[in-house]
This record gives sequence, structure tokens and C-alpha cells, in this order.
Amino acid sequence: MIPALGFSHVGIAVPDLEAAAAQLAARFGVSPSAPKEVPEQGVRIVMVQLGAATIELLAPTRADSPVAKFLERNPAGGVHHVALHVPDAGEAADAVREAGLRIVGAGEPRNGYHGRPIFFVNPKDFFGALFEFEEAPKGAAHDDHS
Ligand code: CO
Repeated sequence: MIPALGFSHVGIAVPDLEAAAAQLAARFGVSPSAPKEVPEQGVRIVMVQLGAATIELLAPTRADSPVAKFLERNPAGGVHHVALHVPDAGEAADAVREAGLRIVGAGEPRNGYHGRPIFFVNPKDFFGALFEFEEAPKGAAHDDHS
């Protein structure tokens, strides 16, 4: 079985990170995080917290980034992935492989936005949806979205 603690965030790919962050800030009266580059993923990310919901805005930093390819197909942006928290990314990756699901890319967890390991499952193995598995903060209650 794949251990999952619950929902982490929804990832939305956007062509203009700063413009998207400014729009959400104005619409919801929230303060998005500063943009942060995650070189391992080829993206820049802004996190927007709306109550218990976390929206991750993603923009590509290089043409061969998977998010760049997504934006080629969806130039205005779109829902890119849904992320679940797992207790341990390495153990979750083993469980995912044992369940017969394929891990995207190198096949091993890599560092994500928070510096904790993440990995993605091939959407062909998951109802056409791209799911991210993100290691939850150690010792934190699941509802802590930090
Ligand atoms: Co994500």
C-alpha cells in the first residue's frame, strides 16, 4: 500500500508567474510567497495560501522543463498536478513501484520547493492525472501546510 497522509497542494502552471501571483493576491487579499527557483524541477514557484488550501503556481525556467511542455499544450496555463503528503518519499516511491506505477523522470525522489524529496507518478498509471508525492515535514501534524 502507498502511505498517504492527505492533500498537500494543487499545482497550476502559468505563463507569467508574477502576474498570476498578483492576480491571486488582489482577488483573495492574500500575500503570495516570493518566487523561488527549484533547479531540480526546472521551475520557479510561488505558493499561495488560502485558508487550508495551498495553490502552487509554477512557471518553467528552461525549455526542456516538463512545465514548459505543458504550457506549449496549454498556453494560458492550467491545472498541472495534485500533490499528496507522504511520511517518507523513499518508502512511498518503493510502494508506488511495488503497486506497478511508474515514477516520472529519473525514477527517484528529488528535492522540491521545501527542500524535501518529491516525485511524480506517470499520469498514464493514474487516471490521466499527474500526482506528486511530497514528503511531509518531519514531526508536523498533517494540517500544517508549511
Ligand atoms: Co507541487
